[in-house]
Amino acid sequence: MTTRDERLQRIRILALLLTALSLLVVAISAYLRLSGAGLGCAAWPDCYGQLLSGAQSSPAGLVRISHRLAASLALLLGFALAWHCIRPDPIRPLAGHATLLVALMILLTFIGLWSSDPHRVWTGFLNMLGGLGLVALSWRIAVAADPLLPPQSSRSALPLQAGIAALVMTVALGALIGARYAAATCGTTPACAGVWWPAAGGLAALNPFAVVASPGAPGDAGGVALHLFHRYCAVAALLLLGLGALRALAADATRTAGGWLLALLAMELVLGSLTVVSGFSLWLAIGHSVGAAVLFAVALQVLDAGVQATRRP
Ligand code: HEM
Repeated sequence: MTTRDERLQRIRILALLLTALSLLVVAISAYLRLSGAGLGCAAWPDCYGQLLSGAQSSPAGLVRISHRLAASLALLLGFALAWHCIRPDPIRPLAGHATLLVALMILLTFIGLWSSDPHRVWTGFLNMLGGLGLVALSWRIAVAADPLLPPQSSRSALPLQAGIAALVMTVALGALIGARYAAATCGTTPACAGVWWPAAGGLAALNPFAVVASPGAPGDAGGVALHLFHRYCAVAALLLLGLGALRALAADATRTAGGWLLALLAMELVLGSLTVVSGFSLWLAIGHSVGAAVLFAVALQVLDAGVQATRRP
């Protein structure tokens, strides 16, 4: 094994550890956010959005401490990973991914300083997106640092690129549902109490810089708009990424990742639907949040494989 291979292996181990830790951070922060908001409380739905009324949230201090510990450890790992990718000479594209990763971690640390006020939508919104970004970037580095990665086969990346755009929209809309405490506005699926298309007045809910005073009541136009757009984007992501995954299945080098992408897509749609049907079970909602992070990371992995292939001489 050459010195470069050893360096790549060290980077891969660090990136895999960071991926696992970032997933843990996403899961714990989903727990803190959703249980603090009142998801899973005994007096549901009356207790939903209790953070907005200033009521004390129930999660144990131990969970908060584990969140801080895991996030701080992830920050240290992120710096170590970036150091190995950049020194003594930058390995491309790992050095670029690692720099972005550290920048995102620093940004999330600053967002954390503002996140004590639950009325600000943008802090919760960016926190959720940032967590997913951390998982995706560290996983991307782990995959790209595999010295044994076989040559990729040539596949069109177009459905995957469009699918990832639809996935980003889905995730952003889901994060807005969470950050605006709008889960209870639509308790049925596939439509919201017979409504299939949002009223024009509901579009204001797409503003991530709003300040919310209270959780949306069932049928609230803004909440219904977020739920319906979230579902339509999820269906678009399913179709486009599903097509990309089927193409990936046809090539030896991308078959496993393609299979995972299909399975994760199906699982995420089922988890989202079950979250609604169950009357917003806390554990299903956390599973849905973590599932989104894994799905996003694997979709990027399959896309990277396709793009590398089209660039290969
Ligand atoms: C590709 C598919 C999907 C992805 C990637 C996705 C992703 C997300 C994300 C990231 C959130 C924010 C989670 C949080 O607050 O911690 C969310 C919330 C939510 N999603 Fe989805 N979702 C998908 C499909 C669906 C579907 C099909 C449904 C229902 C039919 C659904 C229902 C919900 C509900 C009710 C919430 C709010 C619950 C909460 O506050 O966590 N999702 N989604």
